[in-house]
Amino acid sequence: MKSLFVTATDTDIGKTSVCAGIAHSLKKSGIDVGIMKPFACGVKQKTGFSSKDLSILSNAANVCDPEEFVNPFFFPIPTSPYTAAKNLGVKIDIKHVTKCFRKLNKIHDIILVEGIGGIMTPILKDYAIIDLIKDLNANTIIVTSSKMGTMNHTIMTCNMCKNMKIPVKGLIINNFDSTGYPISELERDLSVLTNLPVLCSLPHLTKFNLADFSEMITSQVDISTLIN
Ligand SMILES: Nc1ncnc2c1ncn2[C@@H]1O[C@H](COP(=O)(O)OP(=O)(O)OP(=O)(O)O)[C@@H](O)[C@H]1O
Ligand SMILES: [Mg+2]
Repeated sequence: MKSLFVTATDTDIGKTSVCAGIAHSLKKSGIDVGIMKPFACGVKQKTGFSSKDLSILSNAANVCDPEEFVNPFFFPIPTSPYTAAKNLGVKIDIKHVTKCFRKLNKIHDIILVEGIGGIMTPILKDYAIIDLIKDLNANTIIVTSSKMGTMNHTIMTCNMCKNMKIPVKGLIINNFDSTGYPISELERDLSVLTNLPVLCSLPHLTKFNLADFSEMITSQVDISTLIN
């Protein structure tokens, strides 16, 4: 089962954008790519998928699998799945999520999975995104930003992954906040401090465009090496 789990050091760092960029380029090279965001929380969209991220990812991969498989849990509250489920009295069933993942994996060559928040975003009392990555047995990439504080967040994220024996393929630095660290310094220091490769660095785009973003990723990363 080929899959890649896209996580990040925090919310709003660029998981959807990177995941969509990778999906777009895989699709362009003729690969049948499926997408999944097992947990989504936030404002419910009026049309299409409840989650905006799902609409972006589905468009990028040019797929339209049923929402019940690609997003088994949607909570219309901008909080963690754990808190949302508690507030709404919903019982989260992880086995159901892994079942949906396996189903999607059977109908596509590759599944790209977007996490929610960061790796310690809680889902159940003793179950966070990092446990889901482990259960899905997926390769992982970590999207990080260039803003001040990123060193702390990135090193903590990588250390947790090491402790949990999560196979991390590398880091992607998304420079969406152009006021942060100089990228060359960040690349140099994060690769040494985390012992992981910086797969690529993405510039701030004044007008975000998926095709350009996707092109920037593929010009720096051989995506086939991230997926097995
Ligand atoms: N390099 C970039 N340049 C400019 N804008 C960007 C860049 N990367 C991402 N963005 C924009 O920043 C916002 C947040 O990005 P994105 O939705 O990909 O983050 P996320 O980590 O998926 O967030 P969430 O935690 O809500 O799922 C989006 O509006 C996106 O279009
Ligand atoms: Mg997102």
